[in-house]
Formats: sequence, C-alpha cells, structure tokens
Amino acid sequence: MTEKPRSALRVSDLHVQVKSAEGTASLVRHLDFELKPGEVLGLVGESGCGKTVTSLSLLQLLNRKTTSVEGSIRLNGRELNGIRAEEMRRLRGKEIALIMQNPMNAFSPVFTIGDQFVESIRTHTDLTKKQAAELAAASLEGVNLPNASELMRRYPFQLSGGMLQRVMIAVSMCLRPSVLIADEPTTALDAVNQLQVLRQLDRLRREYGTAILLISHDLGVIAEMADEVAVMQHGRIVEKADVYRLFDHPQQEYTKQLLQARPAFPAGPRTKERLSS
Ligand SMILES: Nc1ncnc2c1ncn2[C@@H]1O[C@H](COP(=O)(O)OP(=O)(O)OP(=O)(O)O)[C@@H](O)[C@H]1O
Ligand SMILES: [Mg+2]
Repeated sequence: MTEKPRSALRVSDLHVQVKSAEGTASLVRHLDFELKPGEVLGLVGESGCGKTVTSLSLLQLLNRKTTSVEGSIRLNGRELNGIRAEEMRRLRGKEIALIMQNPMNAFSPVFTIGDQFVESIRTHTDLTKKQAAELAAASLEGVNLPNASELMRRYPFQLSGGMLQRVMIAVSMCLRPSVLIADEPTTALDAVNQLQVLRQLDRLRREYGTAILLISHDLGVIAEMADEVAVMQHGRIVEKADVYRLFDHPQQEYTKQLLQARPAFPAGPRTKERLSS
C-alpha cells in the first residue's frame, strides 16, 4: 500500500519577480505554506499584496518571458515549478484547478459555454460527449444554474459576471481536483448564490478531500470556511494561524487592522449546518 502524502500542496520559498525595462521587482516574497487534503487555507490581505500573482504562479500561468518564479511548488509530492508546459496542461484542471478572480478571462469568447465545458471535461477523461454534457449539466445545477442545456448553448458574453463565475466554479469542481485555488470565488455573487457556492466548496473538501486555497476579501467567508488563515502584506505572509486564533488573538499590527476594518463577527464555530443543509 502506498502511503498517502501528508500535504496536497507544499509551497516552499516561493519568490516571484517581474522583469521590465526598469529592472526587476519582487511581487511575491519567500512564501511558505502547505495545503492538506480536505483542509481550507484562507489567504487574506489588502488589494495589490500579491494574492492573485501567487495563485497564478502556483498553476504556472504567469508569463514566463516577463516573470520569474523561484522556489518549490510540490503537488502531491511532484514539483510543478519549471515543469514542461504540456505536462502542466495535463495536471491543470484535473489535479489542480483555479477559480479565477476575473471570470471573463477564463473563457474564450468564440465558443459556447457548453463546448468549453465539455471540452475541458473530455481533455481529462474518457467520457463521451453525451456523458460529459450530462456531467456538466449536473455540475451547473450544483451551483444554482438550472436549465443547463439552454445555458450551455450560450456564449460567455450572454451571461452576467456572477453567472460566469458560477460556471467557472462548476467547471473547476467537476473533475474533483486534489487542490483547488479559489481566487475571490464569491465576490461577484449575491447572498443566495454565495451560500450555494460555499456549500459546493465545502462538499468538495468533505466528500473528495480537495485541499482549498481560499482567497477572499470577505472575512466572514474566511471565518466560515477556513481552517487556517495566512495574512499577506507586500508580497509576504506576515502571519499564519488557526482560524480561531487568528481572529481572536491576532499577533501582527497589520492583522489587527484588517480585522478592525470590518464589523465584529465571531470566528466560527463554522456554521456547518448552514453549509451542509
Ligand atoms: N503581470 C504583471 N506584471 C507586473 N506586475 C504585476 C502583474 N500582475 C500583477 N502585478 C502587480 O503585482 C502586485 C500584486 O498584484 P495581485 O493582482 O497579485 O494583487 P491581489 O492581492 O490579488 O489584489 P486584489 O485583492 O485587488 O485582487 C500589484 O502591485 C500588481 O500591480
Ligand atoms: Mg487578486
């Protein structure tokens, strides 16, 4: 029997620099963190601190000509940094998936939602077109998008930002990746759809053991979902702690400021009934 790896994703000394005519600048500095199967690590920090750059670097989606990524990104024990592009494409979506902050960027404008969804499933599975379409429809219903067959005939520009975001979430969840990076997955959503999406994320980690890096400005969402929280400032993680400890006993001045910036709310107990009902 093979031993189950302890971490689904282990990031060590991750450093991202951008090169320009003026020289190089560090966007992400010496990050260390790990995601364990079935656990949620929240990542918070002010706008521009490097959360999205971090998530793109993990999936090797940054422009290799203008940026450099140093350090180690181990997915189930396998090094991703520097991996061949073709090899990465095979893992992306299936082993490690991304819910992008800007859903428009995730779709091609010239193909229907259904074509793109089915194609993404079939790239990683042996399902027939019909089976893939059924899986897509079920996944869309899971994020509160009924009438899937009608929706799948539409083009991305015919959907609202919130609908597109939910389609992207459905796509990223349906292959049950072992790691999911969710960059502001609920920002464009109203309260009802936000709850629906959080339920789906919670199900993914509970039922399939997906490890989730949850990036959000919404500290309520973080308090509800995360097991651990990392606080980022100017490209560095300045504090990382268990969600209860971070909310109740923040150590860094910056963390205290972040917490004070929104109305008081308790850190957990996570409203499990709310999510699993
Ligand atoms: N491709 C790029 N080239 C150069 N600089 C970039 C690039 N992408 C982002 N940056 C810069 O990197 C820094 C971090 O940006 P990033 O998008 O990661 O922030 P963020 O924490 O995700 O912010 P937000 O909360 O607003 O989404 C910013 O200063 C941004 O201007
Ligand atoms: Mg961002």
